[in-house]
Amino acid sequence: MKIIKINSLKNLEKKLLPASQAIKKGHLVVFPTETVYGLAADCFNSQAVNKIFLAKKRPYSDPLIVHISNISQLRQLTSNIPKKVKKLIDIFWPGPLTIVVKKNPKVPEIVTAGLNTVAVRFPEDKVARKFIELCNTPLAAPSANLFSHVSATDLQHIIEDFKNEKYIKYVIYTKRPKYGIESTIIDCTKYPFKILRHGAIPKEEIIEKTGFKIIEIKKVTSIKKSPGQFKKHYSPKKPSYIIKNPVSFVKKTKDTDFVIVCSNQTKSKLLKIKPKLVIIPYGNNIKNIARNLYFCLRLADKMPKKKIYIEPVEMTKLGKSIMDRIIKATENKWIDI
Ligand code: TXA
Ligand code: MG
Repeated sequence: MKIIKINSLKNLEKKLLPASQAIKKGHLVVFPTETVYGLAADCFNSQAVNKIFLAKKRPYSDPLIVHISNISQLRQLTSNIPKKVKKLIDIFWPGPLTIVVKKNPKVPEIVTAGLNTVAVRFPEDKVARKFIELCNTPLAAPSANLFSHVSATDLQHIIEDFKNEKYIKYVIYTKRPKYGIESTIIDCTKYPFKILRHGAIPKEEIIEKTGFKIIEIKKVTSIKKSPGQFKKHYSPKKPSYIIKNPVSFVKKTKDTDFVIVCSNQTKSKLLKIKPKLVIIPYGNNIKNIARNLYFCLRLADKMPKKKIYIEPVEMTKLGKSIMDRIIKATENKWIDI
């Protein structure tokens, strides 16, 4: 696994060339996007895509998102682009919105877990786009982390999860991603469109900019209907809990064997009560909380403490996406003090 560190966009093609050649040969490459790092393979090479599942220890029932760098690649993946889908694309691409559309039979079954739909995303990150362009093929890419683990937003995370992985030839590393939370996934096969995963673009923003009616999946009843919606996901290794009121909890408890991941404001309050607490602040507004959450969870996992307590955020707009991740990271376990 070789690391290609990109500090500037100068000579970008030259820097990315070996990694794009590796993709053409059927190897895997970790690449940056504006949401989280992705683990890529040529989407039309089933054997290469199979390596993604092996490297991540990911079940084959969980389909992959295909990444493109221009609209003509979309036509390789789906044969028909309805008017409303076109409007979504015009407004949100390139960007962190993944659309699920009817699949072209040419897309291998392994990519879509046998579904007749395909999830497509056109990232806004410049390095991502140049890389896909050089590969000259759409790239199937899940987040670059072991299955059910916290997504990777830093080089260290990628190394932790894939240190000795033989299928990954290159890691293209730029910086911490702009959004830090995965793309929003919207099912466009039937109108009203349906949010399958809350993510970097809040549902409200889609409604506001398109005027579309958009619904949400309520309760996940079957993996086939909403693949990838596993109860446990984005998880630290340590027992983790949502802590409704960190201040009153810290006042009451005698235990100190925990890390608290919370807002900067809460951190200041907690330190006044117990100056020796181990606290990892995730930020002070909803955007930087989204950006920092995974980084903080991975850091909390490394601290010499037994448990992780995470402060919730308000369930509105981007907060909904953040809470989706926090709920899955903790398997919805709450400390209600
Ligand atoms: O921001 C992101 O979306 C990142 C970056 C790397 O692009 N990717 C990502 O991929 O989060 P992954 O594999 O961690 O999550 C992809 C999810 C699947 O778990 C599944 O829920 C959904 O996308 N998905 C993929 N294909 C689908 C389909 N045909 N129908 C419904 N959901 C699908
Ligand atoms: Mg993932």
